[in-house]
Amino acid sequence: MRQTFSSGVLALAFATAHVMAAGTPVLVPRASTTLTPITVTGNGLSFYQGSDRFYIRGVDYQPGGGTGVETDPIANATACERDIPYFTQLGINTIRVYAVDNSKNHDTCMNALAAAGIYLVLDTDTSKYSLNRNDPAESYNSVYLQSVFATIDAFATYSNTLAFLSGNEVINNASNTNCAPYVKAVTRDMKQYIGSRGYRAIPVGYSAADVAQNQELMADYMNCGTDDQRSDFYAINDYSWCDPSSFTTSGWDQLVKNYTGYGIPLFMSEYGCITNTRTFEEVGALYNTEMTGVFSGGLVYEYSQEGNGYGLVTIDGDTVVPNSDFTALKSAYAAQANPTGNGGASSTSAATTCPTESADWDVANDDLPAIPAEAEVYMSTGAGTGPGLDGAGSQNSGNSSTESTGTASAGSGTVTATSTSSSKKSDGVRIPPVDLKALSVVVAVLFSMAGGMALL
Ligand SMILES: *[C@@H]1O[C@H](CO)[C@@H](O)[C@H](O)[C@H]1NC(C)=O
Ligand SMILES: *[C@@H]1O[C@H](CO)[C@@H](O)[C@H](O)[C@H]1NC(C)=O
Ligand SMILES: *[C@@H]1O[C@H](CO)[C@@H](O)[C@H](O)[C@H]1NC(C)=O
Ligand SMILES: *[C@@H]1O[C@H](CO)[C@@H](O)[C@H](O)[C@H]1NC(C)=O
Repeated sequence: MRQTFSSGVLALAFATAHVMAAGTPVLVPRASTTLTPITVTGNGLSFYQGSDRFYIRGVDYQPGGGTGVETDPIANATACERDIPYFTQLGINTIRVYAVDNSKNHDTCMNALAAAGIYLVLDTDTSKYSLNRNDPAESYNSVYLQSVFATIDAFATYSNTLAFLSGNEVINNASNTNCAPYVKAVTRDMKQYIGSRGYRAIPVGYSAADVAQNQELMADYMNCGTDDQRSDFYAINDYSWCDPSSFTTSGWDQLVKNYTGYGIPLFMSEYGCITNTRTFEEVGALYNTEMTGVFSGGLVYEYSQEGNGYGLVTIDGDTVVPNSDFTALKSAYAAQANPTGNGGASSTSAATTCPTESADWDVANDDLPAIPAEAEVYMSTGAGTGPGLDGAGSQNSGNSSTESTGTASAGSGTVTATSTSSSKKSDGVRIPPVDLKALSVVVAVLFSMAGGMALL
C-alpha cells in the first residue's frame, strides 16, 4: 500500500538497529547505461530478460512515505545515490516506487540504478491523480489520464523501466469491486498509449490488495476479454507468511494451487509479515520450483522505516542504518538461487473467463468505460507536460467533456477458461475498510492462533 497511515497498533516486532559499513562508493551515472529490457513474451508465462527467465528480487522503496507529504524518491539524486549501495548489498534487481513527480527529470537516478543492475516497477498514480474508489466514474477522466500518460512519457525511454502499475489497492474491501471496470480501463488505456506513442512494450498491470473475497476474482477479471484489455501481468500484496512458517502453514501452497494455469505473469508486489521477527524464510519458497511455476518473485515491503515497523533500514538524513531484517533478507537472497531453466513456467497463455456478477463481485457485465474523448487525443498528440505532485488534482475533474461517455465491450475476444477461472467464493475473514496492513497482521495472528486452520 502507499503509506498513508501510522499504525503501530500491531507493529509487534521491531528489529534491533545496528551499524553496518556503508557499502561501495556511490556509482557515477553514465547516460549510456542500459539494461536488457524485461519482456513478457517468451516461452512461458513469466518475465524474460532476453531469452532468460527473469525473477523480480526487490524491495518497495518510499523513503519519506511516513511523513504524510508525498515526495518522489527517484527525483532526488542525493537520496538515490545514498541508497543504491544498500540495494547492491541486498543483491536486489528491482525497486518499486509508489509515486513520482512527472514534471521532474529522473535521468541521474535511473542511470545510477541501471548501472547497479536495478530495474524499476513504477506506480503511475499519485495521491492527487488517481481513481477515487468512492466515485470511480467521475475520477476516470481525461485530467487523470493526462497525468498517467505524462508519467509514461517520463519513464518509457529508460531501459530499466520494468513495468507500470496502473493502480494500487483501488479495491481494498469487499464493498468496492465496482471499481474494477475503471481499473481495467486505465490499464487498457496505458497499454494503448504505450503502443500509440511507439514505445517498447513496457508491461502494464495492477497491484491488488489482499482481500480474500476478491483478489482472485480481480485476477480473473484483469486477464479476461480481448488481448488489448488483458493486463500484461498481475501483482498481489500478501502478508500471510509470518516467520516462523512454511509453504503449507502460510497457505502459500494454496495460493500457488489457486493461481496454477493463470495466463499472465504473477508476482508479489508487497510481502514481508512483521508479526514475529522477520527471517525471510519465504524467500526460500518464492524462488524455489514449488512457487516459480506460478510466481516470478516479488518485492519486500519496504526499504525504509516509515513509522509502521516494516523498514529494512532506518534513514536519518544522509545516514542509513540497516536493521537486523536487512541482514536476514540479504542472507535469504544469497542462500536461494533461482531455479535453472524456465523454473517450471507454464507455457499456456489463455485468457480467463470474466467473473460473473455475485455478492462478491459487483460488476454487471464485461463492458468497460470507453476512454474519454479528450484523453484519446493524447494517443496522437502525446500527453504534454505532467502536472507533478503539486497540481490541482483530478479526482473532482469529471464533467461532460472530461469523462467517459460510452462503453467498450470486453467480451469479443477469444476467451478460454483455465483451471483457476471458476467462481472462487471465499467465506474468509471480512476485511474492514481501514488499515489493510494492520489487518493483514490481525489475520496472520488469527491464522497462527488457529494453528494454520483455513481462516483465509
Ligand atoms: C534529497 O535527499 C537528501 C537526503 O535525504 C535530503 O537531505 C534533501 O533535502 C533532499 N532534497 C530535496 C530537494 O528534497
Ligand atoms: C467493507 O465491506 C464490508 C462488507 O461488505 C462492509 O460491511 C463495509 O461497510 C465496507 N466498508 C466500507 C468502508 O465500505
Ligand atoms: C471540465 O473540467 C475541466 C478540468 O477541470 C475544465 O477545464 C473544463 O472547463 C470543464 N468543462 C466543463 C464543460 O465544465
Ligand atoms: C484458494 O481458493 C479457495 C477456493 O476458492 C479459497 O477458499 C481460498 O481462500 C484460496 N486460498 C488462497 C490462499 O488464495
